[in-house]
Amino acid sequence: MNTESTAIIAQLAYLLSAILFVSGIKRLSSPATARSGNIRASQAMLLAIVVTLLDNRILDWTTVLAAVVAGGLVGVVLARRIEMTAMPQLVAVFNGFGGGASAAVAAAEFIRAGGGATALSTGYGLTIVLSTLIGAVTLSGSLIAFGKLQGIVTGRPVTFALQKSLNALLFLVVLVVGAGLAHQAAGDALASVLGSTGTAIGIPFFLALVAGALALGILLVIPIGGADMPVVVSLLNSYSGLAAAATGFVLGNMMLIIAGSLVGAAGLILTQLMCKAMNRSLANVAFGAFGTGDQAVRAKTGERPVRDVDAEQAAMVLAYAGSVVVVPGYGLAVAQAQHELRKVCDLLEERGVSVRFGVHPVAGRMPGHMNVLLAEADVSYDKLLDLDEINPEFESTDVVLIVGANDVVNPSARDPDSVIAGMPILDVDRARTVIVMKRSLSPGFAGIDNDLFYMDRTLMFFGDAKEQMSELVREVREA
Ligand code: TAP
Repeated sequence: MNTESTAIIAQLAYLLSAILFVSGIKRLSSPATARSGNIRASQAMLLAIVVTLLDNRILDWTTVLAAVVAGGLVGVVLARRIEMTAMPQLVAVFNGFGGGASAAVAAAEFIRAGGGATALSTGYGLTIVLSTLIGAVTLSGSLIAFGKLQGIVTGRPVTFALQKSLNALLFLVVLVVGAGLAHQAAGDALASVLGSTGTAIGIPFFLALVAGALALGILLVIPIGGADMPVVVSLLNSYSGLAAAATGFVLGNMMLIIAGSLVGAAGLILTQLMCKAMNRSLANVAFGAFGTGDQAVRAKTGERPVRDVDAEQAAMVLAYAGSVVVVPGYGLAVAQAQHELRKVCDLLEERGVSVRFGVHPVAGRMPGHMNVLLAEADVSYDKLLDLDEINPEFESTDVVLIVGANDVVNPSARDPDSVIAGMPILDVDRARTVIVMKRSLSPGFAGIDNDLFYMDRTLMFFGDAKEQMSELVREVREA
């Protein structure tokens, strides 16, 4: 086959891969099709890798195979062993590696192109600089996000005087160095300011760019509280896509440009959706230092009376209800109580009780957290209703069973003075009876008390969700 027809076949394969990527992502928009969407996007990635290797014959096959086996093994082991609650940090690491890979490819291209000894065309130089800059920011930022989520780095926002000014200054320095590398005239001007010759600045400038970008990634993420990390991870995911797209321009690889742009756009949209569901701006997440305790009014537990119930009483209320809406939250994930919850729901349905689930978009700590947990327990997708669908139903609901959720059902979001003012919530307080299953009156992520716990119609069912749910299974069976 001549070179021209090989190139055409490669481009067609890339096109097919791009179509598979787009349709895979489209399928992720519903829990019912998300699994097949994931598989489709993986196939697209495999096709893209195979075509790139065949088309460019970059390395010998033994090296490629060794890398595929090693990388594949690490991926499979990580994905299989990771706890569902630790998924955000796994995604953070993956993003970091993606950004790091883009920066490494750009560095290799920079060295291949003479390491600054010969002038680069502005377009080529610019894409190398962008790929390095965004890739390195993504790498260090993602590692800090991982550290915060894993408890290696403090989860509290780290702030200090003149932090924003320092970040702005560093950003400016990185931009000037980047301009020096990307544009011959800028490089010459910068070199003369530093008393050097244009060609001698290549490698030192490149290293300065990498160091500056790594520092910037760290400084941008440390002031953000640990619990806001899912939003940061999503934003860094978008950055890793942009870095990959820039690398695509460096290498002249169409597939990398398309896949990188898709990741960049999808990450940005997801970030926006999360911010909207928390009624917070991206600026507030990035610079608000949420979780310092300054804005949060700590719960004054024990000062107001609550009505608490045991498993037998809770089972009675549930078993004799006509309709039950279950609201899962972060505590369900912590306790891993989804399978027991499913058993309770099955038993209730056998008794003729209508059971549905109200799923808040930011319940838990990562997008789709509750959907994944409930899917694990084989809860049918058609029973999951989102905020807009379930809210009008609460008024006619007999019992709402809240499992480890707190902020997403906090009626104080309707109070303009609240920390979470304006956050869309599940209007559970409009149901006839509310059962709240959690270990104590402790606040959730936002660190504020929840008036729901003290309402007349609320029954607190204290304890670990998994243990209490097992008790509930027994009691509902006997009811
Ligand atoms: P939270 O408000 O964080 O409340 C979770 C509750 O679970 C806690 O109050 C805790 O109370 C309880 N809990 C913990 N372990 C438990 C266990 N083993 N058994 C029973 N209960 C347990 O959770 P939520 O209502 O799901 O709201 C999510 C919060 O995270 C929102 O504020 C949201 O803005 C924020 N957030 C979410 C995301 C995404 S994408 N989901 C991203 C960033 C931020 P006890 O300690 O008393 O048990």
